[in-house]
Amino acid sequence: MFLPILWALCFVNTARAVTVYGQIPFGQTSAAATQTGAGAAPTDTSSSLLAAYDETILRPPTLPQDQSLNFTLNLAATNASVPWLSIMQHGSFYGFSIEMSVVTQLMGKNSSHLQVPFLNLMGQIQQRSGGVHIRIGGNTQDFAVYVDDIPDGHATAKEKSDLKNPTLTPAVLYSKELFYLAASISSLVNVRWYLGIPFNDTNWRLQIAEYGQAILGDRLIGLQGANEPDYYLSHGHRTEPYGPFEYHGEFGQLIEAMKNNPNIPIKNMLIGPSLASGPWTPEQMWETDYINVYKDSLVAITMEHYPSNNCFVRFNVGSYVDPQEAFPTFLTHQSALSLVEPYRHTSNLAREAGKPFIMFETNTATCGGLPGISDSFGAGLWALDYGLTMAATNFSHALLHVGGQNVYYNPFTAPPTNQSSFNQWTIGAIYYSVIIVAEIFGKSNVSQIVDTSNNGLLTPSYAIYDNGALDKVALFNFMDDPTGAHDITGTITVNGGQVPAQVHVKYFAASSVSVKTNLTWAGQTYGNKFKVDGRPKGELNITTIPCDQAANLCNVPVKAPGFALVFFNDPRTVETEVTPITFETSAFTKTINTVTIDPEVLATSNGQSGKERAKLGSTSFGSVNGAEGLRALVPAFSILVAMVCGAGVVMMAR
Ligand SMILES: *[C@@H]1O[C@H](CO)[C@@H](O)[C@H](O)[C@H]1NC(C)=O
Ligand SMILES: *[C@@H]1O[C@H](CO)[C@@H](O)[C@H](O)[C@H]1NC(C)=O
Ligand SMILES: *[C@@H]1O[C@H](CO)[C@@H](O)[C@H](O)[C@H]1NC(C)=O
Ligand SMILES: *[C@@H]1O[C@H](CO)[C@@H](O)[C@H](O)[C@H]1NC(C)=O
Ligand SMILES: *[C@@H]1O[C@H](CO)[C@@H](O)[C@H](O)[C@H]1NC(C)=O
Ligand SMILES: *[C@@H]1O[C@H](CO)[C@@H](O)[C@H](O)[C@H]1NC(C)=O
Ligand SMILES: *[C@@H]1O[C@H](CO)[C@@H](O)[C@H](O)[C@H]1NC(C)=O
Ligand SMILES: *[C@@H]1O[C@H](CO)[C@@H](O)[C@H](O)[C@H]1NC(C)=O
Ligand SMILES: *[C@@H]1O[C@H](CO)[C@@H](O)[C@H](O)[C@H]1NC(C)=O
Repeated sequence: MFLPILWALCFVNTARAVTVYGQIPFGQTSAAATQTGAGAAPTDTSSSLLAAYDETILRPPTLPQDQSLNFTLNLAATNASVPWLSIMQHGSFYGFSIEMSVVTQLMGKNSSHLQVPFLNLMGQIQQRSGGVHIRIGGNTQDFAVYVDDIPDGHATAKEKSDLKNPTLTPAVLYSKELFYLAASISSLVNVRWYLGIPFNDTNWRLQIAEYGQAILGDRLIGLQGANEPDYYLSHGHRTEPYGPFEYHGEFGQLIEAMKNNPNIPIKNMLIGPSLASGPWTPEQMWETDYINVYKDSLVAITMEHYPSNNCFVRFNVGSYVDPQEAFPTFLTHQSALSLVEPYRHTSNLAREAGKPFIMFETNTATCGGLPGISDSFGAGLWALDYGLTMAATNFSHALLHVGGQNVYYNPFTAPPTNQSSFNQWTIGAIYYSVIIVAEIFGKSNVSQIVDTSNNGLLTPSYAIYDNGALDKVALFNFMDDPTGAHDITGTITVNGGQVPAQVHVKYFAASSVSVKTNLTWAGQTYGNKFKVDGRPKGELNITTIPCDQAANLCNVPVKAPGFALVFFNDPRTVETEVTPITFETSAFTKTINTVTIDPEVLATSNGQSGKERAKLGSTSFGSVNGAEGLRALVPAFSILVAMVCGAGVVMMAR
């Protein structure tokens, strides 16, 4: 409850800027400063060699000969009897899975050194959905090792190469700073976290659960027990025999170890089985009765899957996937349908067991993504369609994976360290997909979606009900034709009701499925390569389309390519209630991308020394220690708010 209050306090002071503490006086963080800096900033082109900045542009797929361009969606006015209507969905449906080894690049070096663009990017989602779910983990979580201290006070580090693990990837070291870093972020934007218990062997290293629960409190929403265990045998983490039954047994051992550990007060927040659905099918896992046996320990049922891979190029494994040949397979609704097909039964099992079903890690292609595809506008349309299909199939959440500068598929990428003083961030088209899905489901928690596609695989569509009433329609056009000859018109009619006098449309647009630049959502862009600070730029453009109420229809055009979100109720009336959460910095100084919160203030803000910060953490969210914790929290957060709002210049009355 106190977080909104804190924000309200900030807004009262009209002080939404987070300023570099102790350096730049509050109030001087003007746009002018930003622009001057931007104009003067050099750009390093050497980084285009890194995958995240790759310039490959593929040819758009050839156009179909016999595609009908006009179609009618006859939609029920209410949710009362819509076949296959989904469960209630949240705006936080799409979240992120951040590889443990890149946490310090993306989130901040430690709790007193946060990445401002990251806060803004999360704030954009929170503004629409109320919050964001982030998993810290991935392949690197299994070999993670807790250490008391990391040089420079950073949250994570790579282990020195003389201590290499069997796959020759240095283990990730993490300290308590990792949890303080996450907690600091959660004090500014409503992010909730999933963590993963290392599972490379069964000598359980449980510090991640112990410190996670102590420091993050109710901001920790799940602990993953194994990451893609169906690959453990082929990756050399286990020896034969290792199948679903062996994993099932180990999961039981983990539950036992947690039960016997007094430093893990909450026993029932495990997440599994997180199969890659490669070697083992979900059905093989369910044959072990995993859900029934472990349902009291599980908070969610999870799977991880990518439709394609770049493993031949990266690791000389498997066979070569040609991006140009693969591109058309992403630009059709068939991709989403095929991706959810193996999970329809699992989705029902999870619902029957009363557990959320989460696609815990996904993206365009594993082993780093595919050049030309993963960061294209086409991938943005693909991720949007895939997300909505998952939602329509009763997945509760899906997390898009984020790696470092050496992958193609990132929703967001921090500049290489040696360029961070003059280059800003880069986002991939799939970041827009997350923003749009957040907007589609919004904050009501009573949004339902149904796949209404009836005009072939290149023009899928969905209807969204909110609080029982038809509220939005989503229309896709995967075709790519700059002449306009393949623009489509979706005609919406309402069955058992009437169309409104007008609808309000936001378009997701770019010149071609192949491009990576000049993407816009409702006329606004987050910026091209190296230009992203996490805030949208340009005028919001919502198109008003009059409907024909006598004929009970609205005609909504969608360009080839493009996506339209049709609102039955003016989205501006909803949005004006929402105060955007944005953080500004004075920008383009050495410390441009960071918020520095004075560690002294953090360490002593509830009257405790730095040494006792575990205690501060455990009371931070008022959940672990109940009422006493909440009392301890108030002064700590007042100071933090003063500091965050006014950077130590504007002091708040307490
Ligand atoms: C499709 O609908 C639009 C808008 O109603 C109309 O202008 C166009 O002629 C139609 N095209 C075809 C092929 O029917
Ligand atoms: C598991 O990982 C830890 C930390 O990296 C390492 O010390 C241990 O030897 C690993 N166990 C196996 C069986 O590889
Ligand atoms: C956090 O990281 C910054 C930047 O590397 C460093 O200067 C600072 O000392 C670190 N803070 C702590 C508490 O170690
Ligand atoms: C999703 O759950 C709803 C119940 O809330 C059910 O009616 C619907 O059939 C389910 N959809 C799928 C694809 O299983
Ligand atoms: C940054 O580091 C990379 C890799 O070490 C190097 O190729 C590049 O030239 C450096 N750029 C600058 C601006 O120093
Ligand atoms: C929606 O759900 C979130 C997370 O469970 C909760 O914090 C929020 O208060 C809910 N909103 C409404 C309007 O019920
Ligand atoms: C329709 O929406 C209302 C309000 O959100 C909800 O209570 C009801 O269960 C929904 N009905 C169906 C069939 O999903
Ligand atoms: C992107 O937009 C800018 C400004 O409107 C324009 O100058 C530039 O040519 C566009 N780039 C592409 C690739 O369309
Ligand atoms: C707003 O968007 C519509 C639809 O894409 C477009 O026709 C119009 O030119 C845009 N208006 C502005 C001011 O950019």
